Amino acid sequence: MEILDLSRAVRERLRTASRVVVFSGAGVSRESGLNTFRGTGGLWERMRPEELATPEAFAADPAKVWRWYAWRHGAVAAAQPNPAHVAIARLESVFPSYIVVTQNVDGLHQRAGSRNLLELHGTLLRAVCERCGCSREMGEAVAESPERPPLCACGGRFRPAVVWFGEALPEEAFARAHEASAACDVFLSVGTSGTVWPAAGLIELAHQGGALFIEVNPEPTPFSRLADLRLAAPAGEALPALAAAIEALDRGR
Ligand code: OAD
Repeated sequence: MEILDLSRAVRERLRTASRVVVFSGAGVSRESGLNTFRGTGGLWERMRPEELATPEAFAADPAKVWRWYAWRHGAVAAAQPNPAHVAIARLESVFPSYIVVTQNVDGLHQRAGSRNLLELHGTLLRAVCERCGCSREMGEAVAESPERPPLCACGGRFRPAVVWFGEALPEEAFARAHEASAACDVFLSVGTSGTVWPAAGLIELAHQGGALFIEVNPEPTPFSRLADLRLAAPAGEALPALAAAIEALDRGR
């Protein structure tokens, strides 16, 4: 997908857009070698989320949960941003208002150069003390204690600074994502199954607000039918092509 043939209507809306939200999920990091949660080969195919990604699971078997996140942290540390992350970062300089709202915890958007970014599900790059809330680098915590969560000076246990099922999303980040989605001209959803709420509700919100909705995903999602433009291709191919098409628009007029 090197050259993207956009319809005249889509081109015109991209040309005049000033507020853009990019909403990303695990699929955007697939081509960096990281597993998705659902879909073919997804992480949840082999594991039940309630066994690992819940506060109850951590309370019941902290070592098991810690080892899973330590393994995932190792994979993330070894991964590199792919052309999709790079294209998403590049577009930040094209639009007056541009924000990346990610469900990913891998930090690859930042490493590709995205600056205006909200992490709805926290980050795997930090560990946080359950008791006092202080935080440290996950890499250091794992190096110190690969098999079980290390203890904080206060006696509490460290856990990954991610949002687990049953926990609330970071309030301020979600409020800002909500506001940006409701008011945007373009909403670009990349590599998400759109099945985890309340994050997935942002798609509906943007659509109701009249945004141009672009979906990049090789497989259909519950929101595909709402898409003004659907690119059924891997993000690492679709995003560079889309960015090139946007950069070729005469947005100065
Ligand atoms: P999912 O694993 O649910 O969905 C990944 C999506 O990426 C699927 O729809 C795939 O079709 C698509 N995909 C696969 N390869 C792709 C590629 N190369 N390019 C583009 N898309 C591709 O991941 P999320 O939607 O991010 O939450 O999942 C949402 C949340 O569920 C995660 O943040 C995580 C998980 O439980 C928590 O841990 C709280």
